[in-house]
Amino acid sequence: MDYEDLGISNKSGNEHLVEVVDRGISRRSFLSWGSGALSLSVFAPLVQGCSSDSETMPRLGFSTVPVSISDTVTLPPEYQYQVVYAWGDPINGTAPVFKQDGSNTAAEQALQSGMHHDGGHFFSLPDWKSNSSTSGLWAVNHEYVDAGLLVGPPATWSSLEGVAKSKAAHGVSVVQMDKQPDGKWKVVASNNARRITADTEMDINGPAKGHALMKTSLDPLGEKVRGTVNNCAAGFTPWGTYLTCEENFNGVFGTDDPTWTANTLQLRYGLSRQGFANSVSPLYPWWKQDNRFDLSKEPNEANRFGYVVEIDPYTASKRPVKRTALGRFKHENCEWMLTKDGRIAVYMGCDEVNEYVYKFVSTGKVDMVDRAKNVDLLDSGTLYVAKFNDDGTGIWLELSPGKNGLTPENGWNTLGDICVRTRQAADRAGATMMDRPEWVAVNRITGDVYVTLTNNSRRGTSPASVNNIDGTSTAGSARPAVNAANPTGGASGNPYGHIVKWKDAGGDAAATTFSWSIFLKAGDKLQSDTLKKGTINGDDFGSPDGLWIDDAGYMWIQTDVSTSRIMAADLSRTNADYKNLGNNQMLIADPATGVVKRFLVGPNQCEITGAHMTPDRKTMFINIQHPGEDGSDADISATPKKYSSWPDGAAGGRPRSATIAITRKDGGEIGT
Ligand code: FEO
Ligand code: CA
Ligand code: CA
Ligand code: CA
Repeated sequence: MDYEDLGISNKSGNEHLVEVVDRGISRRSFLSWGSGALSLSVFAPLVQGCSSDSETMPRLGFSTVPVSISDTVTLPPEYQYQVVYAWGDPINGTAPVFKQDGSNTAAEQALQSGMHHDGGHFFSLPDWKSNSSTSGLWAVNHEYVDAGLLVGPPATWSSLEGVAKSKAAHGVSVVQMDKQPDGKWKVVASNNARRITADTEMDINGPAKGHALMKTSLDPLGEKVRGTVNNCAAGFTPWGTYLTCEENFNGVFGTDDPTWTANTLQLRYGLSRQGFANSVSPLYPWWKQDNRFDLSKEPNEANRFGYVVEIDPYTASKRPVKRTALGRFKHENCEWMLTKDGRIAVYMGCDEVNEYVYKFVSTGKVDMVDRAKNVDLLDSGTLYVAKFNDDGTGIWLELSPGKNGLTPENGWNTLGDICVRTRQAADRAGATMMDRPEWVAVNRITGDVYVTLTNNSRRGTSPASVNNIDGTSTAGSARPAVNAANPTGGASGNPYGHIVKWKDAGGDAAATTFSWSIFLKAGDKLQSDTLKKGTINGDDFGSPDGLWIDDAGYMWIQTDVSTSRIMAADLSRTNADYKNLGNNQMLIADPATGVVKRFLVGPNQCEITGAHMTPDRKTMFINIQHPGEDGSDADISATPKKYSSWPDGAAGGRPRSATIAITRKDGGEIGT
């Protein structure tokens, strides 16, 4: 399921200018920094903006991996991997056991790994100050489900049990993973282990707490909600909590009420801008069993999703909290940088065609001694959205009452209004429409920030349609014109995507201006059209999605070419743009040189996502998501292994998303 390719919710008309791009990549090298989150976060303000001209370790010394269409994980010959935590594996390491015919009940599913692993983070044990590389908590998102593989044929999807199992397979896992004497990682029993699902009760905090649009019949105060859904990418905080990000939350809502579309207030001002419709997808008929997801019966429930949710992995009894101050949109991930005065800045992308890049800056400072002081740090601060000027400068437009057109006469009265209807606030402020912002990555050593712009089928050459404040729409094109930050468009849009880099003014994450450039344009040098060749110095790829810069300064790029593109409409691999690029993959870029090398190719129809390492850099954890899915979302419950049997092979009954651990055969550090 690739909702991002389906819809266009943004008709704001923001930004459509043409300009040539500054592709200059400043040459830098990095301090060697073999440490975990804690030490980095303590020292981040000291090293921001600092660079060294001497390389201290060999870089990208591994053998590059060729493209492939094998139903396996392929690594450089000097590396190996193992599956640690796959869909259906019990969170306590022993029971309930996964049934290969997919017959586990909803109740069992709630004690097992959810489906479709996405973002993840390794938290060393025993506590947030730890640096262990052999024992930790793996927090991992379960973004969505393949209903056919999960529940069975379509007739069962809307049953009480089918909906319950679908909800239980969404959300987050926290499991303990320990390295065994034989070097293998294993999920073990732990008091910290838990599943958070679409039914787990959690708190609503920040400016939208108690807002009129947040009140429902189950929660008349608008202060708590059951569930987090469509948990896409993720982040963490310097105080050792996990941030899980709700993305395509519109997909689990619907209604059978044919009159619902007449509800113009909801449709125009709230829901249409987030892509809601009577039925976005028949894969998630949750509303047939749970009124919360029926747009007609509980019109405000949808306003309670689309947030960043903070989870304390070290305390299983602690309720997750929706941090509404970070805005409501189709969140991809969160990455943070400390400001020069010690506050936290969080960078975020909204993943849909022609959406925006955001930044939140807290009011209070991070306390690295007393963890409890940070407990509500993400509830107050300033939210900004990015405007990329064509001259390589940029502005963080403040999304606050009274600023940038967010006035009562324009329908904006409170910060709560902005935090519920964040996309519309960003439209009003004049943000730059981008080519589907996916992950943001920060280099805490240099202060550089990067965002993957995965692709954009709707980047064209004419002014976009405009959403008017009265709910009407001024006709225009669904293909906003190219601009300097999104320079590829036309008949095929931007099929390969690109990566944009910026630095906030003065190297201070609190700054309201920045300078930017294009780090690379993805593409395929074998294409005859020069516009499709890209600018990659090294191995080619397209549709960058996952992006992470590790403590040594390596940039990990993970691709998510949609299965419909990889397989083409006729299920062949002849899609003109992607015929040479094989299965989805992970590459490493050296930001200092711009060189890109392919490190991993995944099994059939998967995407590669989630990236983190143990502090000693000797184990890398990533996720293989949706191996074997059908590109047209057809039901494959009768033939689950039609496209892939990864990871269980002949012994398995169906493909499974999974977390894998990657190590070097010689036990050395990864990436060198
Ligand atoms: Fe869930 Fe934008 O990928
Ligand atoms: Ca993604
Ligand atoms: Ca994607
Ligand atoms: Ca995806």
